[in-house]
Order: sequence, then C-alpha cells, then structure tokens
Amino acid sequence: MESDTNSGTTDSPGEGKTSRPARPSGLRGKLVLSHLAVIIVAMTLTGAGLLTLVRAYLLNALQDSLESQAQLVAAALLSDAGVQVQPPAPDPAYNTLQQQQIANLAVQIQSQSFTTGADDPALLGPESIRLTSDLPTYVVVLNSLGDPVYESGLPGPPGLRHSAAAKAALAGGTGRTLLRGENGDWMALALPLRREQELVGALVLAHPLSDVNSVLNDTLSRLLQAAGLAALLSGALGLILARRLVRPLSQLTAAARRLGEGDYEYPVPVETHDEIASLSAAFESMREALLHTERTRAQFISDVSHELRTPLTGIKGLVETLQDGALDDPQVRDSFVASIGQETDRLIRLTQDLLTLTRADEHALELRVDRLDLAKLVRGTVDRLRPEAEKHNVQLEVSALEMEVSVQGDPDRLEQVMLNLLDNALKNSPQGGSVKVGISTISARELASLRAAQPRFSWSGNLEGPARRWAVVRVVDWGPGISPALQERVFDRFFRADPSRDRDRGGSGLGLSIAKALIEQHGGRIWIESPTPDWEGANPPGTQASFILPVG
Ligand SMILES: Nc1ncnc2c1ncn2[C@@H]1O[C@H](COP(=O)(O)OP(=O)(O)OP(=O)(O)O)[C@@H](O)[C@H]1O
Ligand SMILES: [Mg+2]
Repeated sequence: MESDTNSGTTDSPGEGKTSRPARPSGLRGKLVLSHLAVIIVAMTLTGAGLLTLVRAYLLNALQDSLESQAQLVAAALLSDAGVQVQPPAPDPAYNTLQQQQIANLAVQIQSQSFTTGADDPALLGPESIRLTSDLPTYVVVLNSLGDPVYESGLPGPPGLRHSAAAKAALAGGTGRTLLRGENGDWMALALPLRREQELVGALVLAHPLSDVNSVLNDTLSRLLQAAGLAALLSGALGLILARRLVRPLSQLTAAARRLGEGDYEYPVPVETHDEIASLSAAFESMREALLHTERTRAQFISDVSHELRTPLTGIKGLVETLQDGALDDPQVRDSFVASIGQETDRLIRLTQDLLTLTRADEHALELRVDRLDLAKLVRGTVDRLRPEAEKHNVQLEVSALEMEVSVQGDPDRLEQVMLNLLDNALKNSPQGGSVKVGISTISARELASLRAAQPRFSWSGNLEGPARRWAVVRVVDWGPGISPALQERVFDRFFRADPSRDRDRGGSGLGLSIAKALIEQHGGRIWIESPTPDWEGANPPGTQASFILPVG
C-alpha cells in the first residue's frame, strides 16, 4: 500500500509518469522501435535502389568511353602513318570519372607496320607497333589467330585474351564483358581489326572498375551517414511523439487505479483534441457520474439511518418510561402503547417505501399491469380519503370525467401515487380550504404544447411512443405552494421543503420519489408546479401536482 501512496504522488495529473525510460515491451518502446524500423527499411530500399542506378550509370559511361577509345586506337592502328591519338577536350559538363576516362585515351602509336609484316600482310608483328598509355587502361592487340601482338606493360586482368569479349571480336563482332581477378574487377571491350574487309586481329581494352567502386563506396558511406542521422532524428521524434501519446494514457491508468481504490475525486486532465482526449473525457464523465452516485449513496444511507433513528428513539423512550412505572397507570400505558404502535407503523411504512425505491433502482419493480379505468380509480381513492379530509376540515372536490379513461397499469401502484398526492395536498391545505382533483385526456399534440409550456421541467426520455392520447390527472390545493427552485427537488429522496414541519406531519420525504418511479415505469411523467408561474410567495398560491399516462 505504501508503494501505491508513493506512486500516487508522481501520478499527479500535472506531472504524469513520463520520465520512465521506454521499455521495448511498453507502448512507447513499441512506437519508437516501429518508427525506427520503418525509417531503416525505407533508407535501405532507397539506398539499394540508388546504388544500383549509380552503378549502372557509371558502367554505361565507362563502356561508352572505352568504345570510343577503342575505335580511335583501332583507326590509328590500321592507318599507314604514325599517329598520336589525342583525347577530345574534356567537356566541363562531364564529371571527374568521365574526364579521367577521356584522358585514358592518350595512347601513342609510335610506329605502325601492318604492311611490313613479312609474308602475310594480314599479320600483325609484335615489333611493328608501340603503344603507350600512362593511365590504367590495359591494351592488348591480338592477331587474327588470337595471339598477342602487343600487351600493355601494366598488370591487366587475367584471362583477357581468352575472354568472351576477345572471342567475340575475333569472330567479327564487338565484345563487352566484366572480368573479376585478384587485382580487382575490370571492364573489357574488344573490337575487330579489319583491313580491306579482312579480319587482321582484335583490339582489346580493359579498364579497372576501381574508380567506379570508389565512387560507389563513397556514395554508400554518405548514404550510411545520412541513414544514421535520419534514424537518430526519427528515433528522437518518435520518442517525443510516443511520450505525448503515452502521457495521457499513463494519467488515465493512474486515475483508473485510484478509482478502483475508491478515490472518486481524482480528476483526469483532458489536454489534447485527439481520440485519447475523447477517451479521457468519457472517463472523466464516468468518474463524475460515479462520484455523484457515491455522494447520493452516502447521503441516502445517512438519511435512512436518520429516519430510522427518530421512531426507534421514540419507541425506546416510551418503553423506558413504561418500565419506570408508567405501566401501572392504565391511561398513560394505553396512550404510550398507542404511540409505540404509531411509531412502529411509521417504521414499517418507511421500510416498505425504501424497498419500493430500491426495487425501482434495480428495475425490479414488479407491476401487475392490467387494463383499468383511471377515472374510476381516481374517484375511488378520493372517496377513501374523504374521512381524512373531513378531519382536516378540507373539502375534497372531484371533476373527473364520467366516461371511462382506460390505461394499462397496476391499480395498487397507481392508487399509491394518488394517495400520496392527495395526502400532500391535504397536509398542506389550510383549515377550511379545498382540494380539487381533475382527470382529462389530451392528444399527443396537446401534450407537446403542454410540455413546451413547462420548460422548467426536464422530462427525461422520449415520450413519442405509440400513445396517441394521454390521460392527465391533476391534484390542486391552495396551500403555501412550492417555490420554483424546489419544484424539481421535491422528487429527490428524503427531500422536505421544510424538514421540521413536514416531519411533524409524519412525512419522510419519500412519497414523491416513489410516485415518480412508479409513474415513469408506467410510461408516464409527473411534475409539480405552483399555479402562478412567477411565484413570489405572495398569497398562498397553492400547488398543482400532475401526472400523465398513455391511454390504451
Ligand atoms: N401540495 C404540496 N404543498 C406544499 N408542499 C408540498 C406539497 N407536496 C409536497 N410538498 C413538499 O414536498 C416534500 C416532499 O413530498 P413527499 O410526498 O415526497 O414527502 P412527504 O409528504 O414529506 O413524506 P411521505 O410522502 O413520504 O409521507 C414535502 O415534504 C413538502 O415539503
Ligand atoms: Mg407525501
């Protein structure tokens, strides 16, 4: 429990538990890792594609360059005069690699003697030519039999003479091939040498791919640096985003835990405007509803205890007095026993009321619904209370319809409602006053205007049921009335406008809350108003308690 208290302090809504490191299994860890994974995969795919493209481009450029070199050299070899083959002037638009390749063309043919070959003028003699090249292009001149007539002094790629490119050139075509040797990768290009349509040999040029590879390696290392930086930045960004996402969740978790421990006062801050904010808002309204329920429950228990204590204390006092000798006086004894009987009746009525309300809360109120004549039921209840009215010197008048008003309902429960409304009216009527009871029916349209005329009352729920007509029962008295501010509160449990006076009259403040539960369970509504809408306490304005039920 202590650790909970400690964590409670760090959980405060303002701070949030955001400083914890991201665990890979936690939401934050998962978010950051997936963010990183996406960046790494994207960078790898882009890098691989880019490197492939650059490589293809460089190899193409190299191949073009080798081909033009080879054509120039071949032309020089086959001409009759000594020729110096110069590279074309580098174009500023060319990149370094292309310029270097063009420079490779500085091949000098010191002498040529395709004609000086002894018997066979088609043969190239090894002594007949001198080629120089300072640069790494490797040159081999083959005679028509495939024997080398000239080879650059530099170490070249192994097997160049027998390469597919050389063979293709000796067969009369242009050969291109990539070679791999201990001294690296090479690109070879071979052209046939023809004199007057006759194949006299082949010229094979090979260029190391080290330039291309170094460019590719350079590009790769830059790409890796960029990828590292991007991963770092996106990781940091992912962490910030994940924190912003996880923070309200941690706050929600802390609040849910506190709620579970019975702390309904711990609020959840709603800081953002996203889905988590909606969740927090929903949680917050749930917390407020729970808080309200909890307060109502606590209030209810304290009210119940109070209501039970009053008659019990009375009974205890009466019993003690009887024990102290009052038993011996028959007159006192009878009056005390009668009082005990009254207090016990009050207790029984209270427990029955509480039971009814609890069942209504649990939607477990069993109604024995039957088709009944509401007008008859109202008249019957009024007749039952006539003696009571006479006792109070109050006149009871009924203006109920003579025709039948048929409703579906539990007669006992509806009578219970009527009895309470009449009891309230009688209790609050002045001596010599009167109470009027009316019953009528109205159409759904009339109900709508009636409802619109009573904006003070929140008639919960939808009344547009299949009911076409509604029965309206009104109980009107000319007592002190109920101020507008209290007209809705009288339906709260144990609510009494004037607790000391109302309790003296035997009321526990449950009658109207039970009436409301019963009427609503019958598909109707109940409300109270003091006849003058702008009641200011002048002249006893009286009270009008009304309820409606669907006719059917
Ligand atoms: N006709 C009325 N005139 C003036 N005040 C009324 C009238 N009807 C109800 N009230 C007020 O509303 C309160 C609640 O009425 P409700 O019927 O719920 O309880 P009660 O009559 O006090 O007790 P119970 O009905 O449980 O015996 C009453 O205590 C009273 O203050
Ligand atoms: Mg009452």
